[in-house]
Amino acid sequence: MTKVKSKNNYLAKFLEMKQQGEKICMLTAYDYAMAKCVSATSVDLILVGDSLGMVVLGYADTLQVTLEDMIEHCSAVRRGAPDSFIIADMPYLTYHLSEEQTRQNAAELIIQGKADAIKLEGGSGTRVQAIKAIVDMEIPVCAHLGLTPQSIRKFGGYLVQGKKPEQQEELLNQAKEVEKAGAFMLVLEGIPELLGKEITEAVSIPTIGIGAGRYTDGQVLVYHDLLGYSDMQPKYVKQYANLNNDIKAAIELYAQEVKSRAFPAAENIYFPIT
Ligand code: KIV
Repeated sequence: MTKVKSKNNYLAKFLEMKQQGEKICMLTAYDYAMAKCVSATSVDLILVGDSLGMVVLGYADTLQVTLEDMIEHCSAVRRGAPDSFIIADMPYLTYHLSEEQTRQNAAELIIQGKADAIKLEGGSGTRVQAIKAIVDMEIPVCAHLGLTPQSIRKFGGYLVQGKKPEQQEELLNQAKEVEKAGAFMLVLEGIPELLGKEITEAVSIPTIGIGAGRYTDGQVLVYHDLLGYSDMQPKYVKQYANLNNDIKAAIELYAQEVKSRAFPAAENIYFPIT
């Protein structure tokens, strides 16, 4: 297994992993405790996704997440995972309005959020310009194509993208464009497996899939989905635990033991009255 020794060579390592056919494992995290757990495993890199808005902050979609939200959560993740490679999502409207604002916002995620790289969604004209502008500031950029959640109003919901041949061609072209613009990695979300394979073969940067089948260079899941700690269970998720049930059961037992006076017991009491 490829082990990353120095933070400085992470980008080269991810590229090498693609070239060697070694799968890259990414997982989201949003706070200190989660980051500590994730960084103690074989997960290769952490994404502080704007899925934060849905799974942590309780919004209906990701569009309400602010730069301040991302900075606060990303810096907490950094405190929990000081040596991990961390990508922070740029929220909706932080890279759409002007190049100057785009550059400023990306820099804040790196300087205040303590991220190593940023991720932004889309691969058409102005998004490609945004990637170039951020890469020009020496900030690594991960692109994100397919079912990009910040575009759900345009898509009409969380609908699999790239089902029609003309959409497939467009996504393939966008993948080549974001690579040319300098992106070091590409997340592919909610697309048919064959398109995930074709894009992965067409670009030299690593592709990380979420609902994009088996042939991408790596996989990413949302922490809460993987652990059974969210309400949604999309088809592409494998649930490796059921934290919702475990947490509710533990809290219920605590409540019952308080009411029955079983808690606190002697071992939980300082200088108990005998
Ligand atoms: O916000 C997020 O967690 C993401 C992943 C789903 C790729 O962008």
